[in-house]
Amino acid sequence: MASGPVASGTDDPLASRMGEPVASRTAPPPRRVLVAGDWHGNREWAINVLMRVPQLLAGEQKRLVLHLGDFGIWPGAEGRRYLGSVTAVLDTVDAELWFVDGNHEDFVELARMASGGTLPDGRVVVRPNIYHLPRGYRWRWHGRTWLACGGGVSLDKAGRVEGRDWWPQEEITRWEETAIVASGHADVLVCHDCPSGVEHGFPRPPAWWAQADLSRNDAHRERLQRIADAVRPAHLVHGHLHRAYQRSCDFGYGPVEVTGLAADGLLRNFAVLDTELMTWRLRRRGLLDLGARH
Ligand SMILES: [Fe+2]
Repeated sequence: MASGPVASGTDDPLASRMGEPVASRTAPPPRRVLVAGDWHGNREWAINVLMRVPQLLAGEQKRLVLHLGDFGIWPGAEGRRYLGSVTAVLDTVDAELWFVDGNHEDFVELARMASGGTLPDGRVVVRPNIYHLPRGYRWRWHGRTWLACGGGVSLDKAGRVEGRDWWPQEEITRWEETAIVASGHADVLVCHDCPSGVEHGFPRPPAWWAQADLSRNDAHRERLQRIADAVRPAHLVHGHLHRAYQRSCDFGYGPVEVTGLAADGLLRNFAVLDTELMTWRLRRRGLLDLGARH
């Protein structure tokens, strides 16, 4: 694997250089990974999904769960208990979990973790088998470059308190965008938010959501679209919308296979991806069937 992060939250334009893949250790890439959407710190749900890993990834030498954000980094005892359970179950099923950040994460805690332990390739060690993929982190599997770019906007920020259950670092910054774009093409974009070029119909927002947050959300989706337009992935996987769907989109440079996953509590929250063929494997028709189009 070759990989490398971009600096997060910096105003140093030279940080973009850090996004270039760097020579790194060689590890056999997984043939299949379990991709999961938003868990929101739902301990019971996380345990239930992870306990299926030996069955879903049977035959894999290295069992890997790729998580699309709103994983559940959270303050205090609640957050520690969640991570303790997830790391214990991962240990039991002999798997590791990589995640991009969502919007509902404790970014102060995430930063503390980054200062405490980062692998040479840039992954942040959250627990010995849990790794955060910083925005701009790149790696290679089966000849493809994968790019992680978490972040999203909390539309319900008006009902949250900064530092307690909301953090401004939820948004991809302008500098992160610049650095990621400067690092060039990637074949697969793994993100939390959904770029604006993927059209969705949404119900009327609750009256208490602030217009400023709706605007922030639009701008954030546009920022992610600019990243996609520059990076030109052929595949894009995201969470955040809590919708499971697959669609081929045209961003102006060729077809992009877009997959979104549902949130915790729904079977379409997770699915097995063949990382060599880039096909989604259905465990049983009707359960993990992502063929339905929205
Ligand atoms: Fe989210």
